[in-house]
Amino acid sequence: QTIVPQTDAKPVPTLPDAQTVTSVKHWTDRLFSFRVSRPASLRFRSGEFVMIGLMGDPDPKTGKQRPLLRAYSIASPSWDEELEFYSIKVQDGPLTSKLQHIQPGDQIILRPKPVGTLVHDALLPGKRLWLFATGTGFAPFASLLREPETYENFDQVIVTHTVRDLAELDYSRSLIEDIQNDEMMHELIGKENLAKIVYYPTTTREQSPKMGRITTLLEDGTVFADLGIDGINAETDRGMVCGSLAFNKDIKEVLEGFGLEEGANSDPKHYVVEKAFVG
Ligand code: A2P
Repeated sequence: QTIVPQTDAKPVPTLPDAQTVTSVKHWTDRLFSFRVSRPASLRFRSGEFVMIGLMGDPDPKTGKQRPLLRAYSIASPSWDEELEFYSIKVQDGPLTSKLQHIQPGDQIILRPKPVGTLVHDALLPGKRLWLFATGTGFAPFASLLREPETYENFDQVIVTHTVRDLAELDYSRSLIEDIQNDEMMHELIGKENLAKIVYYPTTTREQSPKMGRITTLLEDGTVFADLGIDGINAETDRGMVCGSLAFNKDIKEVLEGFGLEEGANSDPKHYVVEKAFVG
C-alpha cells in the first residue's frame, strides 16, 4: 500500500507561461512601462510582439479562470536579457485596469510566440528609415532603436512620435537620450551610428515646440522644411508605422501618396504597419 503524505498546504498557484516582473515605471496617469524576466528559450526579432496578460476573474458559473491576453510589442531589443513593455492604463480596460497595478516580484503570463511585421526583413534596402508612432505605438521602435541592424541598414533614422501632451513624450525622449549617452550603446552600436537618429516629437493637445498630427505635418510639408529634406520617395525612404487604427489608416494613405508600397515578411517593400497593435 502506498502511503500518500497528507499536508494542509494548498498548491501554489502557478500561471501558465509565467514570467516575473522586475521593475515598473509610471510615466503619467495614462502610461507606464515595465520589465519582466525573459524565458530562456525566447528568440525574437526586434520590433515583434507577443501576447501577454494576467489571469482573468473566475467565471461566475464554472469558477474557472481564463488568461486575459493582449498583443504587446516588445520594447526591449532582441539582445536584452529581460523584456520591456510600454502600456496605456485604461481605467475600465479588462486587462490594463489590473496590469497597471503590477509590482516587482509579481507574475504575468507571456506566451513565447513572437510575431509581427515591424521587422527589417519586411523592408527593401533604403537610405532613410522613418519610424512613425502615436501614443504607446512607440514601443516596437524602443526595441528597433536599440538594435544594431537598424543603423547598419540606414544612413538616417527619423523617429516621429505624436502624442496628446508633453508628458506623454517622456518615455520616447528619455529612451533616445539614454541610448545616445550610454557607454554600452556606444560600444554596441557606435556613437556615429547613434547620431543617425533624428527625433521629431509632436503634440496635439498641449502647446509645444511642434504641434499637430504627423499626418498633417507630412501633407503640408512642415516636416520636410524642418528637417531640410526634399520629401519622401520610394527610391530612398522606408517606413514603419505603429499607432491607433485611425492613425495607421491615415498615414498609409500619406505614404502611398508618396509612392511607397506596403511590405510584409514574405514580400519586403517600402513600408510596414503593425496591425495587431491597439493603442
Ligand atoms: P489628437 O489629439 O488630434 O486625437 P491617443 O492618445 O488617443 O492614442 O492619441 C495619440 C496621438 O495620436 C494624439 O496626439 C492624437 O491626436 C494622434 N492621432 C489620433 N488619431 C490620429 C490620426 N488618424 N492621424 C494622426 N494622428 C492621430
